[in-house]
Order: sequence, then C-alpha cells, then structure tokens
Amino acid sequence: MTSATPAESSTHPAAPHPAAPQRDATPDSPAQSALAQLAGQSIAFVGGGNMAAALIGGLRDAGLPAERIRVLEIQPATRQDLQARFGVLASAEPAEVLSGAPVVVLAVKPQQLGVVCRSLAARVRDSLIISIAAGVRTADLARWLDGHDRIVRAMPNTPALVRSGVTGLYALAGVEASGRAVATALMAAVGTAVWVEQEVALDGVTAISGSGPAYVFHFLEGLIAAGEALGLEAATARQLALETVLGSARLAASSADTPAVLRVRVTSPGGTTQAAMEQFTAGDLTGLIARATAAAARRAVELGDLLGIDDASATHRKP
Ligand SMILES: NC(=O)c1ccc[n+]([C@@H]2O[C@H](COP(=O)([O-])OP(=O)(O)OC[C@H]3O[C@@H](n4cnc5c(N)ncnc54)[C@H](OP(=O)(O)O)[C@@H]3O)[C@@H](O)[C@H]2O)c1
Repeated sequence: MTSATPAESSTHPAAPHPAAPQRDATPDSPAQSALAQLAGQSIAFVGGGNMAAALIGGLRDAGLPAERIRVLEIQPATRQDLQARFGVLASAEPAEVLSGAPVVVLAVKPQQLGVVCRSLAARVRDSLIISIAAGVRTADLARWLDGHDRIVRAMPNTPALVRSGVTGLYALAGVEASGRAVATALMAAVGTAVWVEQEVALDGVTAISGSGPAYVFHFLEGLIAAGEALGLEAATARQLALETVLGSARLAASSADTPAVLRVRVTSPGGTTQAAMEQFTAGDLTGLIARATAAAARRAVELGDLLGIDDASATHRKP
C-alpha cells in the first residue's frame, strides 16, 4: 500500500463515516428504490478506477450524497478526477477512508487484491466486504482478510460503464439479509443484479455475462463487415447493425415469448431470414457458442486457481 501525507493525499477534510441518511432521493426508479436499501450506510471504495467510478456515478445519480462515499486510491490524478466529477472524498490514507466504514467495496485489479487485503484486514474487520475483482474466490479473500466471513463476491460486466450492466452476486453464509440488500443496491446503480447460491456458478456468470459483451461486439463486427461487403456505406452498416442488436435485445427483454419463438416469428418459410438461418445451422452456431462459453468457464476456474496463489501478481496473466 502506497500512502502519502494526509495534506497531500486527501481531497476532503476527514470526518467520521456518517451513519444516517442525509438527502436520499425519493425512491422513484429501480436504482433509487434499491438505494433505499442502503438505509443510511456509507460506502468506502478501495481502488477508484473505471469500475469504481461507474459505481460512484450510479450511486450519486441515484441520490446517494457525496459525503457517504469515500475512495482509497493511490493515483493522485485519479483522486483529483473523482473529487472533481463526484465531490467525494478521495484519499491515499487507509485510516481516512476505512475507519468505521460499514461497507467496503474492493475495486482494485484482481492480481493486486491479495496484497491489498492483507494490508487492510485489521481496518475492515467489522465491515461488509463486496469484492468486484474478477475471478478472486471468497475463500482466498477470507484467508487474506484474517478469516472475515461477511464477504460478497460480485461479477459485473463492462456495460456497467453505461448503467446497463448485469452483475452476478454470491455471498458467504455470514452475510446477513441486509448485507445482501446493500450489495444488490450497489450493483443496481449500474444495471441489474442476479444472485447465485453456489460460488461455482460465478464461473458460468463469467462465461455468459462477464465475457459476453465481447461476443456481442464480435457479432457486431461481423454484421458491420457483412453490411459493407453487401455495398452499404460504413456508417450505414454500423447504424443498422447496432440498432438491430439493441432493438432485438429490447424486444426479447420486453416480450413474454422466448428468443426461439421470436426468431421463428421473423423466419418466414422460404424467405430471406430462413436462407441466412440455414447457413448458421450448417455452421453449427449453437454448438460454437456452447464450446466458446465452456472454454471461458474452464479459463475462469484456472484463473481463480492462479489468483488464489499468494504471489498472484507474479503469476497472473490478464483475464
Ligand atoms: N472494468 C470493467 O469493466 C470490469 C468488469 C468486471 C470486473 N471488473 C473488476 O473491477 C476491478 C477494477 O477494475 P478497473 O477496470 O476499475 O481497474 P482500474 O481502472 O485499474 O482501477 C483500479 C485502481 O486502483 C488503484 N490501486 C491499486 N492498488 C491500490 C491500493 N493498494 N489502494 C488503493 N488504490 C489502489 C489502481 O492504481 P494503479 O493503476 O496504480 O494500480 C487503479 O487506479 C477489477 O478487479 C476488475 O476485475 C472490472
């Protein structure tokens, strides 16, 4: 843990973590309703990078006051950015951020987490821990945190950066119902959240929604390239492909019908869609998706093993 003097490292004067709500918005959106579950608690972030900033922005927009958010961040430029964008306290001093924090979100890179947890264990003994680090298992977190048992592990995805994420959540048995509600509220600030009852299911979450945006981007790349090959302007091909993926996802999300039913409905016998679908079937697209996601899930297990090694920073390769 790098630290600086309080005068250099903090963007706010220190004060105890407030315990009571101050100016929460009236619950009138899903994020705000979920935020009400925070019930006056303040949140400390360890690591203030891309994902923490997305969560902080979501929480602020949903009505959580800036005074109830603090960030431990070692990069001075990142601290200044967080202060300027969100008005939150950002500091390199663990005591200033973590003292009395009821909820601590671990948002550093997975390979940094072992060192960070061991350095902070004594300070977060009474806190609910929510880790958003990809791949790091609760057993390893608990070991690094001296046996802590109030740990939630979250697997978000990159659309959280535009408040359209979906997060898989798993909690150790020591996490009470109110702790689960807090974790749900946190992730609802950037999208939706789904609980799993077995931690191993997070490997499946990683394979479907964690890595999933890359699959969709790859499909988009292919659709755009195909549009251009059919003579469309690049910008036109991009707009058609993007709006088709967005619109189809919205239709599927709002329909009572399954994706299979919706697919059949646009596939007239002998028509254009059927001609394309026959090619997908011949190329075994369904089998390809199954093999790709199985490979992702296997890799999630391998990375979990690697990240649990106590000198993971020496062995880890980027997921
Ligand atoms: N980005 C995503 O879409 C996404 C999706 C799913 C899960 N996640 C998870 O979210 C976590 C954060 O990802 P990110 O993309 O936001 O990472 P990031 O941008 O690198 O942010 C992490 C920040 O924490 C700082 N830091 C490192 N050690 C620290 C310490 N001891 N105390 C305080 N701050 C420290 C880092 O500084 P340095 O740069 O100097 O190390 C960096 O500014 C990761 O574990 C990742 O697996 C991210």
